[in-house]
Amino acid sequence: MSTLANTDPSLWHMAAKARRRMPFFAWEYLDSGTGMERLVDRNRAALDAVEMTPRALGGRFTPDLRTTLLGQEFSVPFGAAPVGMSGLMWPGAELALASAAKDKGFPYGLSMVANETPEDVAARAGPNAWMQIYCPKEPAVLDDLVARSKAAGIKTLIITVDVPVGSRRERQLAAGLTVPPKMNATTLWRVAQRPAWALATLRYGQPRFKTLERYFPKDQMREGAKLIGSIVDGRPDWDYWDRLRSNWDGKLIIKGIMHADDAAMAMDHGADAVWVSNHGGRQFDGAPAAISALPEVVARVGGQVPVIFDSGLRGGLDIARALSLGADFCFLGRGFLYGVAALGAQGAGHVYDTLRGDLENNMIQLGARLLADLRSTG
Ligand SMILES: Cc1cc2nc3c(=O)[nH]c(=O)nc-3n(C[C@H](O)[C@H](O)[C@H](O)COP(=O)(O)O)c2cc1C
Repeated sequence: MSTLANTDPSLWHMAAKARRRMPFFAWEYLDSGTGMERLVDRNRAALDAVEMTPRALGGRFTPDLRTTLLGQEFSVPFGAAPVGMSGLMWPGAELALASAAKDKGFPYGLSMVANETPEDVAARAGPNAWMQIYCPKEPAVLDDLVARSKAAGIKTLIITVDVPVGSRRERQLAAGLTVPPKMNATTLWRVAQRPAWALATLRYGQPRFKTLERYFPKDQMREGAKLIGSIVDGRPDWDYWDRLRSNWDGKLIIKGIMHADDAAMAMDHGADAVWVSNHGGRQFDGAPAAISALPEVVARVGGQVPVIFDSGLRGGLDIARALSLGADFCFLGRGFLYGVAALGAQGAGHVYDTLRGDLENNMIQLGARLLADLRSTG
């Protein structure tokens, strides 16, 4: 449970604090976008351009933030998006997020390239643990991940489709991040500058790819990133999706949709929800801001399947903006990790409290009692 008050650091402050706590290469990994990071800027600028007009004399009320998504009840219309290697940001980050998801009532999507396992995360988060899967090349790996998720009690899979190939993240490359980290003088110097992180990591153990390492050939364990690349290297098509759909009787979400035609295709191919995202600006620098793509997707599939949104959200106001444009639910990737890196395990709950308080405040400013009221303000 978070012991911090709502007046404690906002997300922006947590980001600044996280930057001071994490080694340079870990910060650059978390914070960077692809290429020249124009899309990161575009996501921010387009969100800032969404205006909502307050309604006056609404009287005294507490906004009701509860919502139902895919048959599950959540206390708020937002959750924690899958972030690979979260344990690099702070040791045990995934377990902290899983516990907060259970305590506070929000969904947490565990990345397939996580440092913890779906089994351990589901044991903590219960039904609020969702599992994210890229598209492994080997059907046997995919089938095993699906079977493991099911055995762990996970009911919702997120299939990420906006990484057909890796992308070039200049800042990450310049920072010299390798997986596993090369233990050269620069790495050691950067770690030594961050004693709290170094000690916590020493105590917890170096981040490992706990979900995927069982699929690595035993003699190549040290190859980390290269092996992940070879496992993930699927360029999925609709046949791949259909096979997966027929093997999974739980909820199936397609993540990384930017085009309304793809959203319609996904719905026709049995997707239970469409997740509009440009991966937080980390994949294709020439894409439109995700928030600009949202209205067309909502116009095409909204009301038939839930539309989920992420990319660039940094506070309650941003969540209100996405909801005003028709999103049913929002996720934050970096936001939750800034909190965990800044404050340790209690950061996960603190991000929730901060976002919740901020969303409530903005809804009162707008005169919106219900989440549905936000739509008419867009
Ligand atoms: C460091 C980092 C790692 C990520 N890893 C994954 C991943 O493993 N799987 C996935 O589907 N998305 C991944 N994402 C994308 C997030 O799920 C989400 O779409 C994105 O962070 C949303 O943008 P935001 O960070 O501005 O909130 C990652 C994002 C970041 C920042």
